[in-house]
Amino acid sequence: MTNSLLCGPRRPFLGILVALLATLAPAVAGPDTTTNAPAATNDATAGGPAPFSSDTVTKSYFGRFARTPVTLYTLTNQNGMSVSIMDYGATITSIRVPDRNGKFDDVVLGFDKFAPYLKMKDYFGATVGRYGNRIAAGKFTLDKATYQLAINNGPNALHGGLRGFDKRMWNAESFASDVPAIRFTYLSKDGEEGYPGNLFVSVTFSLDEQNELRISYHATTDKPTVLNLVNHSYFNLGGAGSGTILDDLVTLHANQFTPVDDTLIPTGEIKDVAGTPYDFRQPTAVGAHIKELKDKPQGYDFNYVLNKGFFSNWSLAAVVEDPATGRRMEVSTDQPGIQFYSGNFLTGSYVGRERKRYPQYGALCLETQHFPDSPNHDNFPTTILRPGDDFQSSTVYAFSVEK
Ligand code: GLA
Repeated sequence: MTNSLLCGPRRPFLGILVALLATLAPAVAGPDTTTNAPAATNDATAGGPAPFSSDTVTKSYFGRFARTPVTLYTLTNQNGMSVSIMDYGATITSIRVPDRNGKFDDVVLGFDKFAPYLKMKDYFGATVGRYGNRIAAGKFTLDKATYQLAINNGPNALHGGLRGFDKRMWNAESFASDVPAIRFTYLSKDGEEGYPGNLFVSVTFSLDEQNELRISYHATTDKPTVLNLVNHSYFNLGGAGSGTILDDLVTLHANQFTPVDDTLIPTGEIKDVAGTPYDFRQPTAVGAHIKELKDKPQGYDFNYVLNKGFFSNWSLAAVVEDPATGRRMEVSTDQPGIQFYSGNFLTGSYVGRERKRYPQYGALCLETQHFPDSPNHDNFPTTILRPGDDFQSSTVYAFSVEK
């Protein structure tokens, strides 16, 4: 089974029909909507592309995790855009892009050394799993067996538990690709953090000449399990540490969201955003309605239900525009949801690169994902992965400037 079925609502016959129509109608679906397969250009098995040259992916020593050296891999394209990822947590530490005057800045929160990552509790840039976001009371039932996960967020399980994928060493693999790319793999053992099944997971980062960063996930399991893989980058298009993102314009292509209780667990409702402060269907400053929110700490921390077309799960999910620098980011994905988080839990306690502090609202996250607590909500798209299933999913972060 591929992710197109895993992602979709529980209507297998409709799913198969849709998949069939999509293959028969490539002109309708368009080249970018071939949904969940990782970019062919990044697939070593696709054949053809020349191996990347050493000057487009560089390797450097970043620090030490216990006795293990942590390595930083930097992908650089011909425009000078670069993305750095370390093997600890398969974590994006840096994304450098130009502004409208050609000035490069880092647009994600991070540190220039490894040590602060061990103390940081907010998942900066990390690959989050086995289940990104929350599971109520860390409990779910699958095929009549009940599983108890590690509890690490009030009464709930968050972002994979006490030691999720963000706190593990991944193996880095280079492979033939015509764009700078690097792949990380990890074997999550049966019972790790309470999850059933040995899960083999890979995440591939690639950077093309259109300044598009693609993140592609792949996973298989030997027992039924649940899965929600998320990248947790914190974006500030004005430059990390340059202030808040309250003036940034955000568009979310979502007519609905999943309201939560006071422990941030979805109530199960799927609600229209129309007429609420959660409405980002048109470009809206993050700060425009933030004071109307009752949540504590005040701010956005919601899963939005992405609008999807009939033929494909692939969609433009979100756009962020920074009026001050002209930087723009478009997020596209095959995932059904996106967590829009406005950095509410940041306090200014982290001193980041260039000794700049990261204040509350100092960045925003757009975490493409399945809905939180899906294993406990039959009306949400399923997150179950079974032996023989081949989970594949991609998200693209595309950077540009508006003059
Ligand atoms: C996610 C959650 C937030 C918070 C951050 C990490 O975005 O939705 O509630 O836990 O991660 O601090």
